[in-house]
Amino acid sequence: AHVVCDGCVNCKHTDCVDVCPVDAFREGPNFLVIDPDECIDCAVCIPECPEAAIFSEEDVPAGQEQYIQINAELSKQWPSITRRKPPMEGWEKWSNVQDKLKYLKR
Ligand code: SF4
Ligand code: F3S
Repeated sequence: AHVVCDGCVNCKHTDCVDVCPVDAFREGPNFLVIDPDECIDCAVCIPECPEAAIFSEEDVPAGQEQYIQINAELSKQWPSITRRKPPMEGWEKWSNVQDKLKYLKR
């Protein structure tokens, strides 16, 4: 499956959801996840993300492996999102911040 990683936290641009052919994205308060049971690994969402936050499971960067489990877990709790909407207010100041897992709201 593909995995939403650290870059999305507090940015949530949502460009990714418009292109997903199987509506695999789920929305939380300040982050999106991909349901690994829905994702067909088409990869079209990867270039859509302005934060480059989406990776195939094999390519998840070192240190961000926890996001694989987080996507699997939270995708079962959060509602579907299929239409793009404005990014989070103040996303600009989070855009280049790393290690945002501590800010992820569930
Ligand atoms: Fe959807 Fe394809 Fe991205 Fe999976 S890889 S979440 S199927 S757009
Ligand atoms: Fe997040 Fe990027 Fe989608 S910031 S909402 S993964 S476009």
